[in-house]
Amino acid sequence: MWLGLDLVEEADASTLRRLFTIWTDDAAALMSGRGPLADTEPEMAAVTAGLTITFGVGPGVFDLTGITADRPGWLRPLPAFPSIDQLEERWRGTDLVVQICADSPLTVAHAQWVLLKDARSLARIVWCQKGFREAVGTEVPGRSMRNLFGQVDGTVNPAAGQDDPVVWMCASAPDWLRGGTSMVLRRIAMNLSTWEQADSVSRELALGRTQATGAPLTGQVEHDVPDLQATDAIGLPVIDTFSHVRRSMPHEHGGVDRFLRRPYTYDEGPSAHALSDAGLLFVAFQADLERQFLPVQRRLAEADRLNAWTTPVGSAVYAIPRGVREGEVLAEGLWR
Ligand code: HEM
Repeated sequence: MWLGLDLVEEADASTLRRLFTIWTDDAAALMSGRGPLADTEPEMAAVTAGLTITFGVGPGVFDLTGITADRPGWLRPLPAFPSIDQLEERWRGTDLVVQICADSPLTVAHAQWVLLKDARSLARIVWCQKGFREAVGTEVPGRSMRNLFGQVDGTVNPAAGQDDPVVWMCASAPDWLRGGTSMVLRRIAMNLSTWEQADSVSRELALGRTQATGAPLTGQVEHDVPDLQATDAIGLPVIDTFSHVRRSMPHEHGGVDRFLRRPYTYDEGPSAHALSDAGLLFVAFQADLERQFLPVQRRLAEADRLNAWTTPVGSAVYAIPRGVREGEVLAEGLWR
């Protein structure tokens, strides 16, 4: 779940300091199974269910508070992609974001309540976006999650360890962000009604992988490497030129444009107007948003067969400060 918040109008550097000091204590306590100081239901903190809490700083923090910390050039809304975007104001970027993840919805709800009530005189909630992945215990071992189009989603991703520089910022980042990352959150509606009408050949052509296993159309199993040179009986590429994976894969375009994708499905349920309001909370983490994420997003906006069924309705960019050690406050270089 993601909480988008704006700072109160009169916010300054001390507002930020107070907010992050409270949130650092709250998150440390909750993630270690203790109720934070002002938790009136501390018993609920006992089940951590793998709780993680991630905080992000949006562009508005610099515009509003007059802080003098280095502002990274990329910390601004993504450029418009008029060929695909139908952005709704209600899913706009906010001053702050909090991502709360756990294996139990109850743990998430409790953490959300504690963090929001402790912040209420300093920041106000703008939106809440809820997403889910396959429930613990229901995953198919060795296979990535499926999205609501039935596609196996999450196959190609950087590996922890050797690919760390893909995600984590190093020496060239502003002090307060060193060891942190950047997050793009795009809310992308998926049209289940028109996808339902697409036959399996069109679906697999659009993606470049099979529905059944997620294997590339030139391979047998999910993690086979796609063969981009392979052609069919009449000489056309087996993995179509405008398929989603071919347009998004980095190694065709020099290899620097890789990032970590961590998508969640959202499903707001049916209404009197539509049988579904569902899609992907597409989340990308990368050290260098402009060199890694943007070229891929530009290519996909320009041409991607999957665009026929998907529509970005929300977009936000955040700087994610690194986690803290004992005695530190999150993002503390921001206001010093
Ligand atoms: C609702 C929207 C989207 C859907 C349903 C979707 C679905 C998929 C699926 C099923 C795959 C193949 C399996 C995998 O490697 O995970 C894939 C790959 C990928 N997608 Fe998406 N995607 C969406 C949006 C995006 C966006 C917005 C971006 C980036 C701007 C993106 C970037 C990528 C990348 C980089 C790959 C891996 C390509 C490779 O190296 O093989 N996707 N996507």
